[in-house]
Amino acid sequence: MTSYLSVRDLVVHFPTIDGIVKATDGLSYEVERGKTLGIVGESGSGKSVSSSAILGLHRGTNAKVSGEILLDGDDLLQLNDEQMRQHRGSDVAMIFQDPLSAMHPYYTVGNQIAEAYLVHNRVGKKAARARAIEMLDRVGIPQPDRRVDDYPHQFSGGMRQRAMIAMGLINNPGLLIADEPTTALDVTVQAQILDLLQDLQREFNSAIIIITHDLGVVAEMADDVLVMYAGRAVEYGPCKEILTHPEMPYTWGLLSSVPDLSADTNAKLIPIRGNPPSLLSPPPGCAFNPRCDHRDKVPGDLCTTQVPDLTTARSGGNHVKRCHLANPDEVYATEVLPEIAPDLAKETP
Ligand SMILES: Nc1ncnc2c1ncn2[C@@H]1O[C@H](COP(=O)(O)OP(=O)(O)O)[C@@H](O)[C@H]1O
Ligand SMILES: [Mg+2]
Repeated sequence: MTSYLSVRDLVVHFPTIDGIVKATDGLSYEVERGKTLGIVGESGSGKSVSSSAILGLHRGTNAKVSGEILLDGDDLLQLNDEQMRQHRGSDVAMIFQDPLSAMHPYYTVGNQIAEAYLVHNRVGKKAARARAIEMLDRVGIPQPDRRVDDYPHQFSGGMRQRAMIAMGLINNPGLLIADEPTTALDVTVQAQILDLLQDLQREFNSAIIIITHDLGVVAEMADDVLVMYAGRAVEYGPCKEILTHPEMPYTWGLLSSVPDLSADTNAKLIPIRGNPPSLLSPPPGCAFNPRCDHRDKVPGDLCTTQVPDLTTARSGGNHVKRCHLANPDEVYATEVLPEIAPDLAKETP
């Protein structure tokens, strides 16, 4: 049985004059309808590039894309451009961090939402407008029958994001990809938008991929989490499992930069030292090794010479990690947790 969305060994490489940018290098994951996958990682880890491939956004560019993207059993990478256009907006929709750049400034919000409906449905303009008003109402825009005639710049940031969600969901797609949808918004509005997405998901039973650099958002939204580093998955599994028993030092780093996650009032904010690598020439071995504090626990020069395989975590189940450490669960419990969340560490036996 395959999942509603099944991404298998996805590769997206960009040939450039300086060499090949390996923005996605063998990525696999699954998402069921009604479930949410959180893809998390620092800027430049390949989150947007890999997800854009699902919408066929690399078509007509020089990007080299391979692997399989099975949506309801169909491999989207095998479709012709016309078939892909049919999928885009009807089965799969994407919303972005910055709605202003995704919306046209010279057309009203209502016209743009109605257009998304007209493209995929045999209806007249009046019916499409009525549907746009209905969707604006559904996403919580006050006085939707009046605001439908506003231009994007007349909406606040939060309202524009709601309008984007309305446009994305107007054809009831099975899969919604939300790429950093709340990054530009303040905390209160962010929480409202995340609530809205969860409500709509329950109503439409859609699969959601939420892309974020914020593990707090993941904790709130996701059933499963995929941690990306340098174009690859470095940890993947059920959200609860990864937040409580993370086994990859990079995930530990992400966790320690979100203090309130552990419900430990003495939790410390410790940023990950160094910067993410260039995807033109990532470090040999484990791409995270130059920033890793636990390299000395691995015998020999494994970390600097061999890319770790994605293997089953010590906690078992569907939880996998890409790391050479033999006892990551013990290192986390005895060294990492006491440092980042001292109160929580005392309670955990
Ligand atoms: N068209 C392109 N040509 C060359 N490199 C690209 C192109 N698009 C993205 N990249 C590179 O791919 C890497 C991953 O980008 P992206 O997926 O946007 O990261 P994220 O969304 O995780 O912040 C980055 O190093 C970026 O510079
Ligand atoms: Mg991005």
